[in-house]
Amino acid sequence: MEQTFIMIKPDGVQRGLVNPNPRLCKEQPLRACLYLAIGFVSGLLEPSLIIGFVFAISLLQIGDIISRFEKKGYYLKGMKFMNVDKSFAQQHYADLSAQPFFAKLVDYIISGPVVAMVWEGKDVVLTGRRIIGATRPWEAAPGTIRGDHAVEVSRNVIHGSDSVENGKKEIALWFPGGLAEWKSNLHPWIYEN
Ligand code: GTP
Ligand code: MG
Repeated sequence: MEQTFIMIKPDGVQRGLVNPNPRLCKEQPLRACLYLAIGFVSGLLEPSLIIGFVFAISLLQIGDIISRFEKKGYYLKGMKFMNVDKSFAQQHYADLSAQPFFAKLVDYIISGPVVAMVWEGKDVVLTGRRIIGATRPWEAAPGTIRGDHAVEVSRNVIHGSDSVENGKKEIALWFPGGLAEWKSNLHPWIYEN
């Protein structure tokens, strides 16, 4: 089946998608209360625990991006939390090396850790791009990741391969050691074949 390379960019990781978290409060108020209570009690007992609490919240919200692909019916085949160096970022965005914003783009991608992922499923390249939304967040439809969570083109939270061929190249670059082999028991309930 088709595969795509998806990366949560440094701003997506740092923001954790975001703001301890109005959406969580709206969509899952009990869970939000539980986290707040844990954070409050931990902070009272041991102030340094508050850091772990904040970290847990930010992981949860990276999970918010991941769950969009999971819920759709795609398979996670590889995932790494990592920093990349300058030459690696230049290689990943080599097609854009002539663009005036290239140096800034590279600096942005190396500015903090990223979450690198491979997702598999029918039409995952094109549909993945639709889930992500348009490059320029002001053109991205509400309901897409960039439409909901980004303002600037230079801080647009997430990357997705733009063709099957480029997906293959990016997967080979980011996951030279190969991918996980698995299929969900739910497969026949999501896919016809
Ligand atoms: P990726 O999924 O990250 O590859 O984005 P994309 O395929 O939607 O767009 P494209 O490949 O054309 O550009 C790659 C990235 O370069 C974008 O996601 C932006 O982060 C950045 N970028 C694109 N256009 C501009 C620009 O005009 N200015 C700046 N500063 N960055 C830009
Ligand atoms: Mg691109």
